[in-house]
Amino acid sequence: MAIPTPEPRIARFERMGYGMFIHWGLYAHLGQGEWVQHLRKVPMDEYARIKDTFTAEEFDGRQIAAIAKAAGMQYITLTSRHHDGFSLYDTRGLSDHDAPHSAAGRDLVAELIEGCRAEGISPHFYHTTLDWYQPSFHNDFDAYLDYLHQSIEVLCTSYGAIGGLWFDGNWSKPDADWKEDRLYGIIRQHQPEAMIVNNTGLSALGALGHPEIDSVTFEQGRPAPMNHEGKDKYVAAEMCQTMNRHWGIGAEDFNYMSPAEIIGHLCACRKVGANYLLNVGPTASGRIPDYESAALRRVGEWIATHPEAIYDARPSAIQGSGADFALETDDCVYLFIHHLSRGGDAHVSLSGGGAGPRGFTNVEREVSSARWLDNDEALRFAQEQDLLCIEATGYPYGVDRVVRIAEIR
Ligand code: GLC
Repeated sequence: MAIPTPEPRIARFERMGYGMFIHWGLYAHLGQGEWVQHLRKVPMDEYARIKDTFTAEEFDGRQIAAIAKAAGMQYITLTSRHHDGFSLYDTRGLSDHDAPHSAAGRDLVAELIEGCRAEGISPHFYHTTLDWYQPSFHNDFDAYLDYLHQSIEVLCTSYGAIGGLWFDGNWSKPDADWKEDRLYGIIRQHQPEAMIVNNTGLSALGALGHPEIDSVTFEQGRPAPMNHEGKDKYVAAEMCQTMNRHWGIGAEDFNYMSPAEIIGHLCACRKVGANYLLNVGPTASGRIPDYESAALRRVGEWIATHPEAIYDARPSAIQGSGADFALETDDCVYLFIHHLSRGGDAHVSLSGGGAGPRGFTNVEREVSSARWLDNDEALRFAQEQDLLCIEATGYPYGVDRVVRIAEIR
C-alpha cells in the first residue's frame, strides 16, 4: 500500500529531529513543578500575586536559543501558556494574567522568538487548552473557547512566522466539543507552515486525532514505529520527555538523566523516525539550570560528530539485533551500534556487549565500505545475500561514545 508524501512542513519537522521543550511560568517561583498550584491547592489570588515578583531578570531569549543550538537541537517549544493560565506573551488586552502585567513588564515570547531567529532555531509554542485561572473554563465553555481561540490568533498574528503550536489539555474534558476545526482553521489561515500538535497525554500514546494534526505525541514513552501505509496524510511523531521527574523546575528533584541516557533516548526516537523533544525547567528568574545546559551541551558534542546520521537519516528495513539498528539516506546506511564498552574489571566482567561481529539482515544494497564516523577507522565486513556482518572494533582507550555509528556505502 502507498505511503502518502509528507507535506513540506512535516518533512522539515522530521529532519529537525531534536528539540528543546521549555516549561516556565509563575510556578518556577515555587520550585515544585508546573502542577504545584493545583496539587497544593494554592488559592488563586495568592498564586496570582507571584506576578509581582516575576521579574524574569535572567530570561535571555538569545542565550536560551544558543544553548539549544549547542545541544544540537533545532527547535524550541516554549510554554506560552500553561494550565495556570498565565501567558508569557502579550495577550493584547485579552487578559491581565500575562507577562506584560507582571514585574517583568515584557513580552517574553517576543524575546524568545528574536533569540531563535538570531540563532537559526525554529520557535514553537506549547499552549494549554485547559485553564485553572479562567472561570469560564468551568462555567461557560463556549465563552472560554472564544478566549482560547482569540489567544491563539494573537500568537499567530503578532510575531511573524512560527514553527508550530503544541496544544495540551483536551484530555481534561474528553467528552467536550473543543471546536478543533475552528482552532486549527485560525492557525492554517495565519500560519500555513506551522506544525499543529495536540498532546494525547500519558494514556493515549501515539493516538491519531483531528485530520489537521501534523504529529502524534508520545509523552514520556518510547515511540512506536508509525505505519504510514494507506493513510490519507503522512503524520510525524514526537516523544517528549523531561530531564528529571518534573517539567517545571523542581528544586528538590535530583533525579536527572545523564548524557548517556539522553543519547540512548534520542537514538531510540530516531530509530522509528520520531523527533525527541527534551524538556528543561528554567529557574524562577528564567535561566536554564547549569546541570541541564551542561548535559545538553555534552550530547550536542556527540551529535556534532555525525549530524547527517541524526537529522537526515530515516528508518530502514534493515534489522539489527538487540538494540542495534539502521537508518538510511539515499546514499548510505548508518548502523547504530550499542553496548560496545564492557562493564566490570579484570575480576568481574559483565556479560553482553563488547567488540566483535554484529549482524544485520534485510540489506538489499551491495556494500563496498564500512567505517566508524567518529574516527574514520575502516571496518571489516562480510556480506552474504541480505545478511551483513560487520566486525565492530571496540573503543580505543579514552573513548566511550555510548552509541557508535558506522557508515556503510
Ligand atoms: C502533561 C502535563 C503537563 C506537561 C505536559 C508535557 O500533559 O499536564 O504539565 O506540560 O504533560 O507533555
